[in-house]
Amino acid sequence: MASLEISHLFYAFRDIAVVVHSSADPREISQLVVWKIPEVLRAKGALLCVINLATQKMEVHAAYGLSEAYLAKKPASNHEIITRLYKDDRLIVINDLFNDPRVEFPQETYAEGIRSMVDVPLCLREHVMGVFRIFFPDVRDISPEERDFITAVARLTACALDKARLFEEQQSRYDELARQAEKFSALGRMAAGIAHEINNPLASILLYSTNALKKVPPDSPIKESLKIIVSETHRCRSIVRDLLEFSRDRKPSRSLENLNRIIEKVLVVLQNELMLHHLHLHKDLAPDMPDTLLDGRQMQQVFVNIILNAVEAMNPGGALEIRTFVDKVKGVHGVMIRDDGCGIPPELIHKIFEPFFSTRPKGTGLGLAVSYGIVKAHGGEISVESQTGLGTCFTITLPLQ
Ligand SMILES: Nc1ncnc2c1ncn2[C@@H]1O[C@H](COP(=O)(O)OP(=O)(O)O)[C@@H](O)[C@H]1O
Ligand SMILES: [Mg+2]
Repeated sequence: MASLEISHLFYAFRDIAVVVHSSADPREISQLVVWKIPEVLRAKGALLCVINLATQKMEVHAAYGLSEAYLAKKPASNHEIITRLYKDDRLIVINDLFNDPRVEFPQETYAEGIRSMVDVPLCLREHVMGVFRIFFPDVRDISPEERDFITAVARLTACALDKARLFEEQQSRYDELARQAEKFSALGRMAAGIAHEINNPLASILLYSTNALKKVPPDSPIKESLKIIVSETHRCRSIVRDLLEFSRDRKPSRSLENLNRIIEKVLVVLQNELMLHHLHLHKDLAPDMPDTLLDGRQMQQVFVNIILNAVEAMNPGGALEIRTFVDKVKGVHGVMIRDDGCGIPPELIHKIFEPFFSTRPKGTGLGLAVSYGIVKAHGGEISVESQTGLGTCFTITLPLQ
């Protein structure tokens, strides 16, 4: 082959590469390749088949220069045999379709005006993902340069199709997430409405049952029942409170606060809780903690939620470590809360921030969902590391300004 033609092939390849790489649409990529290759090689047409992952069958993805009638018929040679040959990533050339034992229906190719054919597998890593087939109107040899060209285009196409597939998968995952977020927000609004309606009657029930409990004589047969009513109503009220908190508009109202001071306040509130569970507290507060703009009340709630979860996860005698940190270079400050409790199994760890996810018999599953919302509204991050049986560590990182 003359050198001019090599450069011709090179430029054609470059053009194809540019377009193929700039598209994320598998159909568009396939269409471009089946249209461009016959033009470059002066072929009659081309066909690109891709294996459907669900059915494991070859499906025509794109075609050019072939009649509807031909496309509707069985392919010119048996796909399965060819697929097996493709395992070697080889080009198959059938120089004369009328005189080749591999061709099952030569008369059909005759009617279509096809005389020779090249098949090339679309291989990605070890897998054959499809077939690329080029049809010529005459008996024809394929030069080594043309072979290289066809193989290179096939490899390029396989990569681009794979990338496009991944892209499509990711897109549909994003759509799913968006749908889920929409569902959660609708659920949140509904929960807020219900919680609001239930809050007042609950207060009445609590008031009257507590009064009644005070007034019944100690030996009354209904005393036990009243006790249960009071304690269960308390439980309902705390669920409703969590729900209201969760669905509330969580815009932080910031003022100059200090993370160390917030932690100290939280620890005062939780002092009894830690003592009751015989837990050891290791506190390490960064001495250079600056004041920053935070919603102190909301941040307190975050730390209470996380510390109470830790307390619930630990056995008596366990160690709770609370450390605050400042990183001026990264522009962040934060709190690390580590327990040596039961840990979170790896298969559940991605669920713990979901609203209503709880493994505790009396849990509402809202504590971490609320905390996550608060930290995000502050422009921060909340991360978790855990090992079953060894413990869990939550880290809250907040921007310094
Ligand atoms: N420190 C921890 N150790 C072990 N599991 C935890 C810890 N913190 C959270 N979890 C898990 O995450 C779940 C969700 O927590 P949360 O949202 O606070 O809801 P709740 O406390 O009402 O169950 C808990 O039920 C528990 O399974
Ligand atoms: Mg909790």
